[in-house]
Amino acid sequence: MSQQENLPFDEEYYQPPYKAVYRESIENAEKFWRKMSEELEWFYPYEKVLDETNAPFYRWFSGGRINISYNALDRNLKSRGNKIAIYWENEKGENIGLTYSQLYNEVNRFAKVLQDLGIKKGDRAVIYLPLMPELPISMLALARLGAIHSIVFSGFSVQALIDRINDAKAKMVITTTHTMRRNKRVELKGIVDQAVEQTPSVENVLVIKRNEEPVMKKKDVLYQDLAKRTGYKKVEVEETSSTDPLFILYTSGTTGKPKGIFHLHGGYGIWTYLTTKWVFDLRDNDVFFNTADIGWITGHSYIVYGPLQAGATVLMYEGVPDYPNPDRWWELVEKYNVTVFYTSPTAIRSLMKYGEDWIKNHDLSTLRILGSVGEPINPEAWRWYYKNIGNSSLPIVDTWWQTETGGIMISATPGLGNYMLKPSANGLPLPGVDADVFTEEGIPTNPREKGYIVIKRPWPGMLAGVWNDPDRYIKTYWSKFQGVYYPGDYAVKDEDGFFFILGRADEVLKIAGHRIGTREIEDILISHPAVAESAVIGIPDPVRGETAVAAVVLKQGYTPSSQLRKELEDYVKKTLGSIVIFGGIYFVSKLPKTRSGKIMRRLVRSVISGQTLGDVSTLEDETSVDELKKVIEEFS
Ligand code: PRX
Repeated sequence: MSQQENLPFDEEYYQPPYKAVYRESIENAEKFWRKMSEELEWFYPYEKVLDETNAPFYRWFSGGRINISYNALDRNLKSRGNKIAIYWENEKGENIGLTYSQLYNEVNRFAKVLQDLGIKKGDRAVIYLPLMPELPISMLALARLGAIHSIVFSGFSVQALIDRINDAKAKMVITTTHTMRRNKRVELKGIVDQAVEQTPSVENVLVIKRNEEPVMKKKDVLYQDLAKRTGYKKVEVEETSSTDPLFILYTSGTTGKPKGIFHLHGGYGIWTYLTTKWVFDLRDNDVFFNTADIGWITGHSYIVYGPLQAGATVLMYEGVPDYPNPDRWWELVEKYNVTVFYTSPTAIRSLMKYGEDWIKNHDLSTLRILGSVGEPINPEAWRWYYKNIGNSSLPIVDTWWQTETGGIMISATPGLGNYMLKPSANGLPLPGVDADVFTEEGIPTNPREKGYIVIKRPWPGMLAGVWNDPDRYIKTYWSKFQGVYYPGDYAVKDEDGFFFILGRADEVLKIAGHRIGTREIEDILISHPAVAESAVIGIPDPVRGETAVAAVVLKQGYTPSSQLRKELEDYVKKTLGSIVIFGGIYFVSKLPKTRSGKIMRRLVRSVISGQTLGDVSTLEDETSVDELKKVIEEFS
């Protein structure tokens, strides 16, 4: 069913060019990208649109010089200096607004401080900050110098921070004392203090003072002290090449070690700029509220780089949606006249339970586009969002993409006049995205047949590689099917070419939309003194989409207890981060394994979710499955 008939369609404004633009992008790719790239400012023109000489390490716009921070700030100063770039507000209602010229000044001052501390092109700095204005400011300052940022989401803890700092060999960590969540203080600097004891590459910790005096350690320098001395001076922008790295963002895969996905100034810059316009249709009087954290790719691309390059106004909110009341977001939408709103299915489901009265008291009439991201949206949540927030009339862009893709790949594209929506469908591929669904054998599926989504040609926003691990890049993304990019998601495509993404096809969980590998959790569990072995799987959760369930074998001398269960949960949260939410921990004496000793997670999953076991011919000891069944029965 097409819902187009329900949607506002202003013929005069919206010419429907989607089909023509898409066709041009595929049939005339070189010309198309040349034209698109002209919308941004280049210091020096590129030689090649797409350099395929070292495939699959494709390089876009090679030979050119461009800087994303320059395109976000300097380029917009001329026409939008007095326009608000960023509104920021916290739980308490404290707020600021930074115009493009104020943001430019702040970024320059920050860049000068960084420069004085010895940060230069190519250096890596880890940012461990909550959603405070200094987060985008420090990103843009590092990018201005050609340095590479790697943001670690502030919900991660010590071990995650150590692993990321060491893999990136970061010279600096940028942090602050704390953030507030539901009026409770969440410690950040204490975690950095512990981490930097095990990260030899870190020369300085740049501490941003909030409303309390930080306890300074040996490597710490206080941002405010240095900034005061520096003052507001212009810092020359580094004329980075299109193929210079902009950031590394670690994400989970099928092994215990997170992958350092890295993106480059040119291709990522163009992709985030264009997709912002195509999908969110941002115009000069729009206010864009993206509820994601900048510590994830959604915030990188659609709070900072996309909207700011597009000269838009964004709203950043440091807090949770249901504190002090479950109408916090709707209050903000009303207060700031938000026009485009982007959130996750988990957030929608968590707000549904509070009922509609919290919405009715707010004027949401400025909204014109709604978005969803991070996990498949279930029909019930979709309908609630459409009816209650969208007044049964606004388009919902269900944007499918990944850390690796840099920006949105499949979605409706209101900015190109394409409002076509179908319930549960993500939509059609964006221009330049040559997507398909393959069977296990690598041939296109029939309409509505489940398979793996693939991207059959490079696109500008694609990851440049896995930091320090080129083999893993080839193996993970370019080896399942010859010559095509493999994202690791199940999907179907219908007879109209609409894509429906069904979820991960690998050992990666989406807990509240946060991506986390089952092996990462297993590695932490077995580092606990009581644990000998563990198998972690995901089970469906009505609000969070998924939660983690662990089957755990204890070491001799330890006995199962609810206290130990709680201790293990707390241990994982403290070590890896609060994003790991357990749906259960079951103690068993052995795990189902193959004859060669490999843990059969598939069987653990079948038993825990009460499904049929399937093929058990390689199972070494059937009593392992019986025991797990019994433990689960006893528990429930
Ligand atoms: O499984 C898909 C799911 O999120 C994965 C990517 O996770 P991450 O790199 O953390 O990026 C999330 C934000 C872009 C994908 O492989 N996913 C993301 N968006 C959707 C989705 N699944 C279904 N529908 C979506 N709109």
